[in-house]
Amino acid sequence: MCGIVGAVAQRNVVPILLEGLRRLEYRGYDSAGLVIINGGLKRVRSVGRVAGLEAACTAHQVHGNLGIAHTRWATHGVPSEANAHPHVSGSLAVVHNGIIENHEALRIRLKAAGFTFTSETDTEVIAHLVELYYRQTQDLLAATRAAVAELEGAYAIGIVCEDSPNRLICARKGSPLLVGLGIEENFIASDVSALLPVTQRVMYLEEGDVADIGLLAVSVVDAAGNPVDRSVHISELSADMAELGNYRHFMQKEIHEQPRALTDTLLTAVAQEHIQPEWFGFDAAEVLGKVNAVTFLACGTSYHAAKVATYWLEAIAGIPARAEIASEYRYRTSVPNPDALIVTISQSGETADTLAALNHAKALGQDKTLTICNVPESALTRASRLKFLTRAGPEIGVASTKAFTTQLAALCLLTLVLAKLRGRLSVEQEAAYLAELRSMPNKVQQVLALEPQVEAWSQRFANKHHALFLGRGVHYPIALEGALKLKEISYIHAEAYPAGELKHGPLALVDEDMPVITIAPNDQLIEKLKSNMQEVRARGGELYVFADGDVHIEESAFVHVIRLPGGSNGLLSPILHTVTLQMLSYHAALQKGTDVDKPRNLAKSVTVE
Ligand code: M6R
Repeated sequence: MCGIVGAVAQRNVVPILLEGLRRLEYRGYDSAGLVIINGGLKRVRSVGRVAGLEAACTAHQVHGNLGIAHTRWATHGVPSEANAHPHVSGSLAVVHNGIIENHEALRIRLKAAGFTFTSETDTEVIAHLVELYYRQTQDLLAATRAAVAELEGAYAIGIVCEDSPNRLICARKGSPLLVGLGIEENFIASDVSALLPVTQRVMYLEEGDVADIGLLAVSVVDAAGNPVDRSVHISELSADMAELGNYRHFMQKEIHEQPRALTDTLLTAVAQEHIQPEWFGFDAAEVLGKVNAVTFLACGTSYHAAKVATYWLEAIAGIPARAEIASEYRYRTSVPNPDALIVTISQSGETADTLAALNHAKALGQDKTLTICNVPESALTRASRLKFLTRAGPEIGVASTKAFTTQLAALCLLTLVLAKLRGRLSVEQEAAYLAELRSMPNKVQQVLALEPQVEAWSQRFANKHHALFLGRGVHYPIALEGALKLKEISYIHAEAYPAGELKHGPLALVDEDMPVITIAPNDQLIEKLKSNMQEVRARGGELYVFADGDVHIEESAFVHVIRLPGGSNGLLSPILHTVTLQMLSYHAALQKGTDVDKPRNLAKSVTVE
């Protein structure tokens, strides 16, 4: 979604801002713009890619030592130059992430006060409101504080003014924003990845903070106006982590990074001989020891990870578990259980629905909270009592891949910790599970070697309009994830069903034009799954089966089989089967020629409702 970069320096900041925007492109956007202060206020905006903005900056010879820049993902108003940020009022300019819910009332008031609106955005009210107070106070910080006090909704904003050529003001509530600290130069960004070429030293702003940023100093006041110190973190990320290297797309790179991502995520755990609650926080034993149920809250792919975990938790840890789509849970009337563990799962840690669902759960008195997240210092990690950081590294492709499998790895650990705390693991089982986890990265590497076979299959998918994914048990959520991946990046309509449901409806769709992708692990349901496959064949459907190495399935002209290495993979099976489906979607999308890393209409971090 929208992205913010700002810089105050003693050098030309235009290349810094443009590179920052390029590094935020993965979040999804449809227009971009910047304002530079250099004797006056110079604004450049364009619809489409950052490359277009760069060309416009070159054409207009824009340069200067202070500026703000933005990528916009349209919410209020179409993607157009007029709606692109920054928005200007008088001598100042504003970039904004989030949604101002009371923008209509503010717009009426500001129009009555004589302001003219030139866009359809909610953001423009912020620019005029700050300008209104700036005219009264001639103090940019005071004007910003007065303006944000009237805003309802979510915002991360950056402001520059032509009267203050060495000063950047920013504020946040409900949308992430951080300050990057350089040597006699400072920056702001909505995501640390935007600043990695210039600094790894960052200060995360808290809810309601307003910061005043100069060349040499940064001062922060909290929502009440009290000066506060926010701690400085050194980001573990480096600038080259977000480079494509030899890969054609970030999605492909991220699929292949999974052995490394899983190794890093499991590092602490597998180095030990015993399962430890402290993997989830220093007081995790106390919290996890008391819970009698688990409720997961998540969206999209992260919700599928949650669904997988419900199977593991009930079967292995013997604890009731349910997964809820965050955007549903936050609005439905539910029966709170104060002894349930509330687990949010999120790659970005900023998903608005998941954050709101967590706050809703807490408001219902459910305060035993854990987040499984890929971004340290994100809103979800800060709002949760316990946390587990997956170490997937930055995920740039909109389609989640390594974030999902590392979430599953973290959920394996959670399952084993709860199983141990509840006395459900013998010493032998504990050792066996840890050994399985240690083998995970290597087994994923072996599955990646199947890519040429999967690619060959994908050629048959490119001309299809629909596809059906089947799985049973813990592999049903993997089928859901396979279908989501395929539709997300290839735009082929895909549905997933537990195979036993076929005859209750979806079988009506099956004919020779409907590829049926089937996950066939060697588990207790395999014979039942084979019967379901017969139901498909009897209606002329063509089967594409990902099977464990020791599953006997007769291949034919209409039954194609790719075998995973080895026999049954127990706990790891859903993770290994996921990798094959990721490769299938990736290659199907390549065949169709879609924009794999930036599929239409989608954004990487969904920070609005
Ligand atoms: O950052 P999150 O994990 O909270 O994001 C949730 C979903 O928006 C996300 O998983 C989405 O479904 C992905 N694009 C799937 O590939």
